[in-house]
Amino acid sequence: MFKYLRFSVVVVALAVSGIVPAGPLGIGSTATPEMIAGWDIDIRPDGVGLPPGQGSVAEGELLYEAKCASCHGLFGEGEGRWPVLAGGEGTLDTLHPEKTVGSYWPYASTLWDYIYRAMPYTAPQSLSNEEVYSIAAYVLYLNDIVEEDFVSNKETFTQVKMPNEENFFIDNRPDVQNGRCFENCADPSTFKIVTTINGVTPTGHFKEDSGVAANHYEGNPSAASGSELRIEKSVTKVALSKEALLGRGVYDKACQTCHNSGIAGAPKLGDVSGWVDRIGQGMDTLNDHAINGYQGADGVMPAKGGNMALSDDDVVNAVAYMVEASR
Ligand code: HEC
Ligand code: HEC
Repeated sequence: MFKYLRFSVVVVALAVSGIVPAGPLGIGSTATPEMIAGWDIDIRPDGVGLPPGQGSVAEGELLYEAKCASCHGLFGEGEGRWPVLAGGEGTLDTLHPEKTVGSYWPYASTLWDYIYRAMPYTAPQSLSNEEVYSIAAYVLYLNDIVEEDFVSNKETFTQVKMPNEENFFIDNRPDVQNGRCFENCADPSTFKIVTTINGVTPTGHFKEDSGVAANHYEGNPSAASGSELRIEKSVTKVALSKEALLGRGVYDKACQTCHNSGIAGAPKLGDVSGWVDRIGQGMDTLNDHAINGYQGADGVMPAKGGNMALSDDDVVNAVAYMVEASR
C-alpha cells in the first residue's frame, strides 16, 4: 500500500513540474541549448569561449578592491593565508616557490575562466562578463603583465602572453629508463641500490629537521658521502641556543637564497671548513658584516642580506644560527 502511495506522489510531482521524461527508460529530459550554455563556460587558451564585452584595468581596480581584496589583498599579496595572486617571479626553481597567476599560470584564459566560474569565493558566478574582463585585466596589471591603459576584450585578452607559458610542455621522456629483459636476465638477488640523494639513502620526504625536501637539498651538491654525513650531523644533531632557534626563521626568510647553495660566493650553511676561519674572527665581526654588509674576497654580502625590514637583533640571531649549524 505504502509503495503505491509513494509512486503516485512521484508521478504527480513530474506532472506538476512539466518535465517530460525522455529516452528508453522514460527518465530525465533532453537538455535545451540554454541548459547546455549554462554548463559550457570553459575558456580555451586560444580564446575560444570568451564572450563579447570588455573591461579596463581602471574599472577592474575598483571592482577588485570591493570584491576580491578582502581575501587576496589590495595588491594581490593575499590577506592572512588566502591565496596570493601576484608576484613570485623567478621563485619557481628555488626552495620556496611562490606560484601565482603571474609567476606560474601558463595561459591568461584560465584567469578569465577561474574568476568567472569560481570567484568571489562566497558568490561564484555572480559577476557579469564586463566585470570579469575588468577584474582579470586588473589582476594581470598587478602582475606587471599588461599596462595600466589595457582594455581587455576577446581580441586583446587572447593576445596576452603569460611569462611562464614556455615552461609548460609535453614531457616525452620515458618514465621507465631501463629496457625490458626477456632472456639471459640478471639474477634479481644480486641487485643492490646504487643511486642515492647526495650520497645519503633517502629515508623520508624531508631531510630531518632541515625543513627542506631531501631531493632539493643543496647543502652539498657533491656526492662525497663523508662530508655529507658530517654536514648532516652538524645541521641536525647540535642542540641550538635560544638565539639560534629564533634566527632559523630569519635565515629561512632572508638568508638561505644565497647561503644554502653558495650563490655569489656565500659560505654555505653547514660547510664546516668554509666557516671555520670566519667564525675565528669572532661574533662581533660576523654580526657587523651581516648587519652592515661588506665586500669580502669571495663576494659581496649585502647589508641584512638585502632585507632592510629586519631588525639588528633578527640578523644577530640568524648569524647565531648559521654559526651553530656550521661548526
Ligand atoms: C572570501 C574570500 C575570497 C574572495 C572574496 C575572493 N577569493 Fe579568490 N580565492 C579564494 C580561495 C579560498 C581560493 C582558493 C580556492 C581553491 O584553491 O579551491 C581562491 C582562488 C583564487 C584564484 C586562483 C589562485 C591560484 O593561484 O590558484 C584566483 C585567480 C582568484 N581567487 C581570484 C579572485 C578574484 C578576482 C576575486 C574577486 C572577484 C576573488 N578571488 C575573491 C578566496 C576568495
Ligand atoms: C645576496 C646573497 C646573500 C644574502 C641574501 C645573504 N648573504 Fe651573507 N654573505 C654573502 C656572501 C657573498 C658572503 C661572503 C662574502 C665574502 O666573505 O667574500 C656572505 C657572508 C656572510 C657572513 C660571513 C661574514 C664574514 O665576515 O665572514 C655572515 C655571518 C653572513 N653572510 C650572514 C648573513 C645573514 C644573517 C643573512 C640574512 C639576513 C645573509 N648573510 C644573507 C651573500 C649573501
